[in-house]
Amino acid sequence: DDPHADPFAIAAQAAAQLAEATGVERHDIALTLGSGWAKAADLIGETTHTIPATEIAGFSKPALEGHVGTLRSILLPSGKRALVIGARTHYYENHGVRRVVHSVRTAAAAGASVMILTNGAGGIKEHWKPGTPVLISDHLNLTANSPLEGATFIDLTDLYAQRLRDLAHEVDPGLDEGVYVQFRGPHYETPAEVQMAKAMGGHIVGMSTALEAIAARQAGMEVLGLSLITNLAAGISPEPLSHAEVIQAGKDAEPVISALLARIVAKL
Ligand code: 6GU
Repeated sequence: DDPHADPFAIAAQAAAQLAEATGVERHDIALTLGSGWAKAADLIGETTHTIPATEIAGFSKPALEGHVGTLRSILLPSGKRALVIGARTHYYENHGVRRVVHSVRTAAAAGASVMILTNGAGGIKEHWKPGTPVLISDHLNLTANSPLEGATFIDLTDLYAQRLRDLAHEVDPGLDEGVYVQFRGPHYETPAEVQMAKAMGGHIVGMSTALEAIAARQAGMEVLGLSLITNLAAGISPEPLSHAEVIQAGKDAEPVISALLARIVAKL
């Protein structure tokens, strides 16, 4: 939180602590598992180390779940190493954008060249039933913020790498794509805001991912984004939104979408 601290130096320190704790010099890919996606960690390979995030520089306690998040080092069948980030800081927690993207910068400092960002989100397309996974094709960042500081001009064309999207479509030819809209939250949108997002070209509304994707691109990583539609966005469905239902929809869909993600990871 020190404005004079260098966020990349803290990420480098975090990566060094991770290497020390795991004995793994380099992680090849990293995954942030959002609502509904956590089981993928058990399917992609063998977890060799589970480290409480609080032991690693720059990570904060999660606001929502109450339990401490973890970082897991997973040995994939291919021999590659995955870093699974089970400790996400959301922008709405008000710790600042540096804290939001710290895990992504740590993954990059640990050597990861692919960043997989997943989330639970609201759907703007009526035919998306709760439990539908959607590949993120692009985003609208409505946080009015950026993880980049100073005059850092970065191209975001193909931010959600076509190469990785092609891979995901090979695994599931029926996988839908959509434009993810990051709102600040933590309240859900009004029906009017959902209509605004739709008019702007958005298909999915959520409270994460876009800022993290920008930081991943800055770090030179390829990004794959996946949303689980846990509910239809406000006004798209006549039902009011309930956080409990959002969580439940994630739990119900978890086995199917986690298996999908594991099959994508196996192709990387
Ligand atoms: Cl409808 N909106 C946002 N911003 N995040 C969500 C959601 C909706 N449903 C699940 N997460």
